[in-house]
Amino acid sequence: MESTPRIASREGRLGVLLPGLGAVATTVLAGVEAVRQGLAQPFGSLSQMNTIRLGKRTDERSPLIRELVPLAELPQLVFGAWDPIAADAYDSAVDAGVLDRHRHLDPIRDYLKSVVPMPAVFDTAYVKRLDGPNKKRADDKMALAEALREDIRRFKVENDCDRLAMIWCGSTEIFLRAGPAHATPEAFEDALRASDPAIAPSMIYAYAAIMEGIPYANGAPNLSGDLPALEELARRRGVPIAGKDFKTGQTLMKTILAPGLKARMLGVSGWFSTNILGNRDGAVLDDPESFKTKEESKLGVLDYILQPSMYPDLYGDIFHKVRINYYPPRGDDKEGWDNLDIFGWMGYPMQIKVDFLCRDSILAAPIVLDLALFLDLASRAGLSGIQEWLSFYFKSPQCPEGLYPEHDLFIQHWKLKNTLRWLAGEDQITHLGREYYAE
Ligand SMILES: NC(=O)c1ccc[n+]([C@@H]2O[C@H](COP(=O)([O-])OP(=O)(O)OC[C@H]3O[C@@H](n4cnc5c(N)ncnc54)[C@H](O)[C@@H]3O)[C@@H](O)[C@H]2O)c1
Repeated sequence: MESTPRIASREGRLGVLLPGLGAVATTVLAGVEAVRQGLAQPFGSLSQMNTIRLGKRTDERSPLIRELVPLAELPQLVFGAWDPIAADAYDSAVDAGVLDRHRHLDPIRDYLKSVVPMPAVFDTAYVKRLDGPNKKRADDKMALAEALREDIRRFKVENDCDRLAMIWCGSTEIFLRAGPAHATPEAFEDALRASDPAIAPSMIYAYAAIMEGIPYANGAPNLSGDLPALEELARRRGVPIAGKDFKTGQTLMKTILAPGLKARMLGVSGWFSTNILGNRDGAVLDDPESFKTKEESKLGVLDYILQPSMYPDLYGDIFHKVRINYYPPRGDDKEGWDNLDIFGWMGYPMQIKVDFLCRDSILAAPIVLDLALFLDLASRAGLSGIQEWLSFYFKSPQCPEGLYPEHDLFIQHWKLKNTLRWLAGEDQITHLGREYYAE
């Protein structure tokens, strides 16, 4: 196996830059500050709460992940953001309506008020259902990238940061396919200079981050860093990247249930998923072009987990449908229904109904925190390019060309932990367990 890399010190401040200061981003900021002040617990975060078994079951060695690998600690984090809507993090959090204003926002009001978004690279051609005045203006897209790079450098100096990480928490952009402008770093830079419409704002942020040597993750389903040009650039510049689309809500449930059904060789003839949600994200996804981006991201999951080409009798004929309906009265409190038509022994049909009354941003916030800390670790360990071990956090995990993405939550979890064991110089866990029965 590849030797364990040396990991640079975690000392100093880690700046976490978030393009998009909406529901998810403000829930992350408020939660991290509340935990720092001892007002809340970081439920849902592996980096803060999960243990990791080392050695044999009889060894009884299960430290916390953050005791095994040198992750940055919460007091070291400094947050920055960009958003075309000029509201500070307090006003934006009140508007998002995820957290209770009196119980959870007012006690940390001063802190949230202090996070004011920088002017965004934003274009309504790519996100049609919202707009705001807090935008950068420049002659071409390369100049916009330069302006972002300047923001990054200024933020680092003004906040006395030793290093940075960037996580896209901006809106879902319209559906775009990777094309010639995205094929190589050189073609991408030409396209930036020519302000090619194939270059969406989220790609400009990803480019700026990679050029500044900052790890980048994409929490939305739009392409952003998921392009051959930017993957190659990240490798060349030694920058870790990951994406895309935070795995929360319905897809999280799907990637928990589907591996279980497949493990038992139970067939699936239909899987109908529908949602109602009423937040700003729901309004953006009400635009058919943004919904298409999301739909592609949600639909791929079952095919990869169930492998219909390998099991045509069980999964060759699935009817899979995903719907998202914008329904303002629910705000951020989404409701997702799933109807599964499954079959077992001799083809006898059965049904499973799931009604998940979930809170999207509550599920997404710990993902953002974990990604910032793990990507920072990856960067200090000298890892670069796609970090597939972070697939656990994504609906559409990025992987190299020619390889299929791993969607099964349990395999992803195992992969994440084995990577942490490898980084810490510990043995991999295979679960073979012959040693417990040795004569
Ligand atoms: N909440 C979840 O569970 C979840 C899960 C998966 C993916 N996502 C994705 O995460 C993203 C954020 O979700 P949210 O609920 O916070 O949405 P939101 O609408 O509350 O916030 C998004 C913010 O991004 C801003 N924005 C849009 N384009 C921008 C740009 N070019 N630069 C800077 N800011 C920009 C918007 O003004 C808005 O304030 C969405 O794309 C969503 O699809 C969320």
